[in-house]
Amino acid sequence: MLESLDLWVEYLIRFSHVVAGISWIGSSFYFIWLDSSFEPPKKSRENVDGEVFMVHGGFYYQVDKKKIAPGQLPEKLHWFKWEATLTFITGFMLFIYLYFLNSASLLIDPSVMNLSHFQAILFSLIFIIGSWFFYDVLFHPNIKIPNFLRNTIGLLAAFALIYYTPTVFSGRGAYMIVGVVFGSCMLLNVWVRILPGQAKMLAQAEAGQTPDYSLGQKSKSRSVHNTYFIFPVLFIMLSNHYPAVYNHELAWLLLAILTLVGAMLRQVMITKKSIEKWLLVPAMIGLMSLVALTSKKDMTVSEANKGLSYSDIQPIIEKRCLSCHATQNTDDIFTVAQKGIILETEELVRLHKDKMLPQVENKVMPLANKTQMTDEERAQLIQFLKELDTDQ
Ligand code: HEC
Repeated sequence: MLESLDLWVEYLIRFSHVVAGISWIGSSFYFIWLDSSFEPPKKSRENVDGEVFMVHGGFYYQVDKKKIAPGQLPEKLHWFKWEATLTFITGFMLFIYLYFLNSASLLIDPSVMNLSHFQAILFSLIFIIGSWFFYDVLFHPNIKIPNFLRNTIGLLAAFALIYYTPTVFSGRGAYMIVGVVFGSCMLLNVWVRILPGQAKMLAQAEAGQTPDYSLGQKSKSRSVHNTYFIFPVLFIMLSNHYPAVYNHELAWLLLAILTLVGAMLRQVMITKKSIEKWLLVPAMIGLMSLVALTSKKDMTVSEANKGLSYSDIQPIIEKRCLSCHATQNTDDIFTVAQKGIILETEELVRLHKDKMLPQVENKVMPLANKTQMTDEERAQLIQFLKELDTDQ
């Protein structure tokens, strides 16, 4: 009865992660919109910098943007920090569940680096924690370097991370680690750099002093960075459905382009300068270059593989796939049919052919090539699956 517990645990964590993520990104988008929509107050009011009127669900809302001043504190102040925190906690749980357990099979690709279970976990933690410290020091207000230089180093470091992770981990694992790095920086920005400044200003106001508004200004750059991280992180979170992307031989380049495109889309979305709207052009060129890069297929079809029948292919599937995709799995770790995909009969193979092809073509399956499928067998299975497509 408990065999399916695994599935539901994953389902529930994923669900919570998506719900928390929607609340976080949703409220971030809302505040980005709000910030760009304020207008100077019609009647000037003390400490009010801007006002905005909205209608939603049959009611009208008026929001003021204001500075807090001594003696003007509201009784109840709403902070937006739990959305971010819950997104991170559920995300990290999901990361541990999928990538650290099960011998870290989704992190390791022996053809990239033959990591042990322990090494895979250790190295990914080093990447994640190391990246935060590097980032935090680079953008620390006490470190005096010109902003232009700081941003350039930051961008180059992000590209270095994107470049090196696929030389250590599986394509899918590498993408996810970059996503976790960006996500961790976002969360730590909130807790370590943004909230303490705000709390200090609040405490000053409560103590009857004029708050030191430069504290808010100091953490401003971290808030801005967080908005740049949003789209790249979302791209990465969705990437594990696309093996043709994360297992591409230039997976790092695709991710670098996606990151840049994501950052440019953010700029276009937020900016008020019409010249910056033109960033949509390089963003579109970036997307088109992704299409071009992923269109190339290096697998050449040899004449000998043409016209293979199911009986030619069945032994390959049996040897290389069924240990993890059968009614009774024999794999030591994956004891139930993975993703519910069972490949025991011709009908089932036909049913799943569209899912099988990208997995096999992009060398995602057999997972970490645990069953040691040869290139020849792979080419045969690919050709067979492609011909099934044209059969119908
Ligand atoms: C060592 C175990 C293992 C072997 C061997 C294996 N798979 Fe998988 N397979 C997995 C796991 C684990 C997943 C789920 C991955 C995930 O969480 O996305 C999976 C998922 C899949 C999926 C679903 C992908 C999707 O769309 O979500 C397909 C299709 C698939 N495998 C096909 C194959 C084929 C074809 C073979 C043989 C060539 C094969 N697998 C061999 C472990 C294995």
